[in-house]
Amino acid sequence: MTLLVDVHTHVYLPRYASWLRSRSVAPRILVNEAGEERLLILENETNVGRPVGPSYWDINAKLSFMDQHGIDISVVSFANPWLDFLSPPDAESLARDLNVDLEEYCATSPSLPSSSLKRIYGLGLLPLVPGIPVSSVLEAVSQIAKAPHLRGLIMGTKGLGKGLDDDALNPVWKAIEENGLVVFLHPHYGVDPSAWGEKENGHVLPLALGFPFETTTAITRFILSGAFDRFPSIRILLAHSGGTLPQLSSRLASCIDHDPVVASRLKHDARFYLGKLWFDAVAYGPEELAFVSEIISRAGRYESGSTNTKSLADRKEGSKRMLFGTDHPFFPPLSSSEKWKSVVENLEAIDAVAGWGTNEREGVRAGNALTFFGIQ
Ligand code: URA
Ligand code: ZN
Repeated sequence: MTLLVDVHTHVYLPRYASWLRSRSVAPRILVNEAGEERLLILENETNVGRPVGPSYWDINAKLSFMDQHGIDISVVSFANPWLDFLSPPDAESLARDLNVDLEEYCATSPSLPSSSLKRIYGLGLLPLVPGIPVSSVLEAVSQIAKAPHLRGLIMGTKGLGKGLDDDALNPVWKAIEENGLVVFLHPHYGVDPSAWGEKENGHVLPLALGFPFETTTAITRFILSGAFDRFPSIRILLAHSGGTLPQLSSRLASCIDHDPVVASRLKHDARFYLGKLWFDAVAYGPEELAFVSEIISRAGRYESGSTNTKSLADRKEGSKRMLFGTDHPFFPPLSSSEKWKSVVENLEAIDAVAGWGTNEREGVRAGNALTFFGIQ
């Protein structure tokens, strides 16, 4: 029996939830007329908000979700919007305290039966806000590197306010690379809400389209800045299977070819860099997983001119860079007895990818994550 490892699963630890409760503008937690706590996370969200409760902060609720769904190990990360809305001194001290809290959350989780492995590992956070000295960010990187159960960090797309192609981040990437930490790149802002028009579509457009577009833009700007040439060993895991980057990578390569200024900054064809990334398998469908695994495996071959001949073998090879996730505790079921659709659908998708055999399925369910996060 193989394990199941969830690499995309979030928390708001109690200290963070208290900050959210103390605020009067988004992001905030408020109590509605029915006396229930609700989470208001985006600026333009209606006052209805989303459900929020113990599964965000109580380790027993996380463990019982894991037990209900057969998840053996979770690599938990803080949920958006992290510390983005804070001033530098608050961001610095809250990052330090939350990384301590997260290490303790992981350390107090039970071990797997007959194993020295814990059931929960973590991804810390950095005080990435405009105006903060880079030295404070580097201190947080060292703090995370020293914490035994933290294996990397979750990062939004803003960097120090200017995005992930900001040269001021170079020392941060260098420290992350040198310490062998994983970066989990995750969206929060979506795109300009005017793109969504006037019809009431709730959270559907920002979450289904805005989130993946934001991730796509952020990682593309990182690639175009030449960061992968400067930091070739950096390990970045993209949320939601890389947004739309896999689908658009050949178009991106063609646009770069026609722009000598950008082309001259890069050592490789744009598709080469896709092969340096990892992708969660939170795509909800087998065709999407098949496509992503094929594309990322072909990535390195574009420069040699041979690209189109081996799709099933590519799918198997590319699966080694894909990792199961759930996005818990977002998208809860409507009744408390139901299984979470995000788990059921993402597991069914993994089982149904044409061309993935037992090895690939087991890799995506657990083996790839254990290797990637050094959980052994
Ligand atoms: N998933 C997340 O991680 N964050 C959200 O805000 C919604 C879904
Ligand atoms: Zn998420």
